Amino acid sequence: MNGRDGYFDEGVAARYDESDADMFAPEAVEPVVDFLAAIAGRGRALELGVGTGRIALPLAARGVRVHGIELSRAMTARLQAKPGGDDIDVTIGDFATTRVDATFSLAYLVFNTIMNLTTQSAQIDCFRNVAAHLEPGGCFVIEVGVPALQWLPVGEVFHVFRGGEDAWGIDEYDVASQALTSHHVEMIDGRLEWTSIPFRYVWPSELDLMAQIAGMTLRERWGGWKGEPFTKESRQHVSVWEMPGS
Ligand SMILES: C[S@@+](CC[C@H](N)C(=O)[O-])C[C@H]1O[C@@H](n2cnc3c(N)ncnc32)[C@H](O)[C@@H]1O
Repeated sequence: MNGRDGYFDEGVAARYDESDADMFAPEAVEPVVDFLAAIAGRGRALELGVGTGRIALPLAARGVRVHGIELSRAMTARLQAKPGGDDIDVTIGDFATTRVDATFSLAYLVFNTIMNLTTQSAQIDCFRNVAAHLEPGGCFVIEVGVPALQWLPVGEVFHVFRGGEDAWGIDEYDVASQALTSHHVEMIDGRLEWTSIPFRYVWPSELDLMAQIAGMTLRERWGGWKGEPFTKESRQHVSVWEMPGS
C-alpha cells in the first residue's frame, strides 16, 4: 500500500474525485479559489500535495500560474489528463523537502494534507521548505481540521467523521504521540474495502510556532474559506502566515 505513490496509489487515484465528490462541488471549490487568487495577486502559486488538481486547475483558470509538488505519480497522471492539466507543472517528490527552481507569492496546503506528514520534524521541514520558496511578503496558507479531541469522551480513541450507506470514516487518536489513523471503509462494486492512513494531528498554536521557526508570522486565521470567524467551536481553520516584506 505505502509504495512509490504513498497512500494515493493507482486504486485511490482512480476513485479520488468520485469518492470526495462533495469537495469537488463548485460551492466547496469556489470560496477556496477566491481566497487563494486574492492572496496570489499577480504572482505564482505553489500547491503542496496538488493531487488531481481540484484547486490548482480552477485557480490556474483564474490566471494564476500554479506549480505543484506531489508524491503520487498516479494522482499526477489524473491531473495531467484533465483539460488545463498541461498548464500545471508538477514536481514529483515529498513536499517537506522537494525544491522547485522558482519563487512564489503564495504557497498553499489544503484539505488537511499537512497531517500527511507524520512527524513533527517533517511538518517543520515543510514550513522551512515553503519559506525557501516564498518571495518577500509571500504567504503560506493551510486548511486543516482542529484536532477533534473535544468530541472524544474520556478514554475513547475513535471518532466517526463520516457515515453513510456505502462509506464510513473513523479517526483513531493516540493522544500520547499525536498520531491519528484514519480508517476508511467503503463498499466498492459490492465488496467492502478498508484503508487505514496514518496522520499526525497538529494544533493551530503548534503551526504558529513552526511558522515562527521558518521565519513567518501569522497574518490571519479564519474558521473557513468565506471569512468565518475562528472560535472555540471551529472544526477547521484556514491560516495565513507571511514572510517578512522586502
Ligand atoms: C487529500 S489529497 C489532497 C489533494 C488536493 N490538494 C486536493 O485538495 O484535492 C493529499 C495529496 O497530497 C499528496 N501527498 C501526501 N503526502 C505528501 C508528501 N509528503 N509529499 C508530496 N505529496 C504528498 C497525496 O499523494 C495526495 O495527492
